[in-house]
Amino acid sequence: MSGNKVKTAIFPVAGMGTRFLPATKAVPKELLSVIDTPLIQFAIDEARAAGIERMVFVSHPSKSAIERHVRDDAGLRASLCAKGKHDIAAQLESAALHGGDDAVRFVMQDKPLGLGHAVSCARDHVLDGPVAVILPDDLILGGRGCLTEMIAAYDPSVAGHLVATMEVAREETKSYGVLDVADTVGDLLHARGIVEKPDPKVAPSCFAVVGRYILDPAIFARLAHQTPGAGGEIQLTDAIAHDIGTVGLAGFGFAGTRFDCGSKAGMLRATLHLAMQDPEFDDVLAEIAPRPLAMAAE
Ligand code: G1P
Repeated sequence: MSGNKVKTAIFPVAGMGTRFLPATKAVPKELLSVIDTPLIQFAIDEARAAGIERMVFVSHPSKSAIERHVRDDAGLRASLCAKGKHDIAAQLESAALHGGDDAVRFVMQDKPLGLGHAVSCARDHVLDGPVAVILPDDLILGGRGCLTEMIAAYDPSVAGHLVATMEVAREETKSYGVLDVADTVGDLLHARGIVEKPDPKVAPSCFAVVGRYILDPAIFARLAHQTPGAGGEIQLTDAIAHDIGTVGLAGFGFAGTRFDCGSKAGMLRATLHLAMQDPEFDDVLAEIAPRPLAMAAE
């Protein structure tokens, strides 16, 4: 059973964040915050809650701020403590990743060759067994944590590749990997195919892949030979599709709510969602809420 344990999470974070310019000109999109928490921190917390032992960040040389955020900064904590700010120092300490090479690796993806290429860059840094992939701009809140749920549902004798999925409007299928679903058993959607960013007219279903994967380690050998697909990029979806007959593929219907934080609307939705759960923002939300009513009365 230990051979099936998911020990490694890969975080592809080398992307340029063009959809969020100018915000992402100097600040990596993974460090954009929902209220006070950067997207990468949500992803790390989700992986940690799922019992991940090693986190591999596939980054870009221009995005060194991600590593500064992720790793512990004892000097910063010491200067906060010297000013009596022990609470903030303690918060930073528990959010940061500690430990050396065993726990945290940074590898560089110098060229934007696609998600499949990003995952393949992590190959020499993963522990044995299946690997998780987390795309930080897909923020999933609620439930037990999407990756925790997926690890509990993962059974390689049924499907060696497991991807998080949700239903989207047909016209949105062109923005996602989309499953060809054979049958559904509880939260699992057994798939006979998967296609990257199909034309909505021919999309095999409306079940889109969102950014959580558990992958059989065979994916690395496949990615090494993967030719460019949609958008001229080496697509993870294509490598998964190639393995379906041998490794198997299922979608997983997670319990939480997914926010597309690669888009402005998604960031705003996530911000409002978290603000509504925090009494600190009751006054702010009350200031905003009456406005549509007042406008309706005009
Ligand atoms: C990537 C994947 C796609 C998946 C999506 C989820 O696309 O290639 O299959 O559905 O993430 O967010 P991207 O959004 O990077 O274009």
